[in-house]
Amino acid sequence: MSGRFVTLEGPEGAGKSTLAAALAKRLPNVLLTREPGDGPVGRKIREALLHGDELDSWTEVFLFLADRRQHVEGVIRPALDQGKTVICDRYADSTVVYQGHGRDLPVDLLRKLNRLATSGLTPDLTILLDLPAEAGLSRLADKDRMDREPLSFHERVREGFLMEAKRDPDRWRVLDASLPADELADRAAGLI
Ligand code: TYD
Repeated sequence: MSGRFVTLEGPEGAGKSTLAAALAKRLPNVLLTREPGDGPVGRKIREALLHGDELDSWTEVFLFLADRRQHVEGVIRPALDQGKTVICDRYADSTVVYQGHGRDLPVDLLRKLNRLATSGLTPDLTILLDLPAEAGLSRLADKDRMDREPLSFHERVREGFLMEAKRDPDRWRVLDASLPADELADRAAGLI
């Protein structure tokens, strides 16, 4: 039996991690995970991506993809095979949006690379927590390498997520991230 694969996406400071934790409390048999950086190899890749030197844009893509491959094969698929509901904080859509819409790399090629990295594992449901870029950034206490990009980058990211959601309305649901946390969790749990 295969479990349900749910991903949470959104710009910085949208409250995905808080929502993920609330969902794990509300729903049975959930595995909570995130990208980048679940697992020992992932943690090293995460460090290089978010707290290291400046990176070439394609180097950045390949690091996110390497992390994703390891994550899919080592964590996500095994949990789905056990019938768990996997809730993943960011996944392939973040690459299309941040590296594609944000850094202006070709989105169709990024979609293909995602398919290669994941062997085609696509979420059953993707919840977008939407809020204006500036509002999200102002919620952050510490800023990593991506957070320090200019506001215009984060605005492209927000628009990119909304475009992706429109492109595949069967898979995506958009929620207003400025709702009170409890209400947001109730609504998201209702979707899963
Ligand atoms: P993280 O600290 O996990 O924060 P959050 O997910 O709460 O924003 O940072 C992950 C950062 O990496 C975030 O800025 C989005 C970015 N990212 C990409 O640019 N591409 C990707 O494929 C993924 C998974 C994340």
